[in-house]
Amino acid sequence: MTHANEVILSREIHAKPVASDFAVQPVSLADINDGEVLVRIIYLSLDPYVGSALRGRHMTPQPQPGDVVPGYGLGQVIASKADGFAVGDYVAGETGWRDHAIVPALAMRKVDPTAAPLSTQIGATGMPGLTAYASMNHLAAVQPGDHVLVSSAAGPVGGTCGQIARILGATNVVGIAGSDEKCALVRDEYGFDACINYKNADWKEQLAAVLPQGINVYHDNVGGELLDTALLNLADYGRVVLCGLASQYHADERPAGPNPGIFIVKRAKVMGLVVYDFLDEQQDVTAKIGEWIAEGKLHFVEDRVTGLDQAPVLFEKLMLGENIGKAIVAVAAESV
Ligand SMILES: NC(=O)c1ccc[n+]([C@@H]2O[C@H](COP(=O)([O-])OP(=O)(O)OC[C@H]3O[C@@H](n4cnc5c(N)ncnc54)[C@H](OP(=O)(O)O)[C@@H]3O)[C@@H](O)[C@H]2O)c1
Repeated sequence: MTHANEVILSREIHAKPVASDFAVQPVSLADINDGEVLVRIIYLSLDPYVGSALRGRHMTPQPQPGDVVPGYGLGQVIASKADGFAVGDYVAGETGWRDHAIVPALAMRKVDPTAAPLSTQIGATGMPGLTAYASMNHLAAVQPGDHVLVSSAAGPVGGTCGQIARILGATNVVGIAGSDEKCALVRDEYGFDACINYKNADWKEQLAAVLPQGINVYHDNVGGELLDTALLNLADYGRVVLCGLASQYHADERPAGPNPGIFIVKRAKVMGLVVYDFLDEQQDVTAKIGEWIAEGKLHFVEDRVTGLDQAPVLFEKLMLGENIGKAIVAVAAESV
């Protein structure tokens, strides 16, 4: 294997990224050094944080024009000079948008392909699943009796959050999403009790109507007006997990924020979530969510394209909020 393909950033980004900001280019693969593995990427995860990173608005370094787009990949080792990593092993980690990657083995996590369907290990049972599990199980500690609200509920984090809340015994699980089609998915596939399309004019009244006794747990992926509205409907001693700020990642100006006074009046606990704090649990959580999938208790949906050259188009869709389910690029067959 000497040739591969990669997707680079073709120019500086000053607005929400579009497909034409990227270019696919062929590349010659170098020899691998001691401690490195050559990975055949099978699945590439497209994530909202990459859009922020491209604009220098994330905790990870800002890529420059000509750099390979950062991203999380899952694949199979096809050459190894690292102890403990054999040809055929499945691994996941930061690979960039490539079809083959030479990476330090220690930066990769070994993946058990039998723990859960392989593609979910970058979705519902992978980093997004870990984020959802940390939120619902550790930070919000959802219990029977809780009325739970989740925004971006059709996405891999939100959809998994609501389903885990249900598994933990929540009484009422409500989602917020940006279209009727997404809301149908949230109710019918993910089994939420209700889902409100925040693009409807009367969505705030609809939300209050399905949560009349207030919100015990709110998992926020969006910030801005959705967060503000959820806080106004918080029950006493409500727990709020701040996880994402999708409404602000590409805004030119910071929108008027929620009133933090509400946290005081409601004696609310607000918790920031950084999934990296939970990485040592990834293996266990993959196995646990994998079991829930196998038992039919938890469902996953993928917005999938085939071929590395399709990554920019699906990424543009993700940036526009038009993805339905986990945005994933199938780069190669699961087995050769
Ligand atoms: N804190 C952490 O450690 C951590 C870890 C992982 C993910 N996250 C965050 O969790 C959130 C969900 O991630 P995910 O992977 O499950 O992705 P996702 O839900 O598929 O993310 C994209 C969705 O964001 C929503 N969105 C809301 N406002 C938007 C706007 N103004 N422009 C574009 N999209 C908008 C859209 O859904 P609607 O149509 O429903 O609006 C869109 O489909 C993201 O904000 C992500 O950054 C945080």
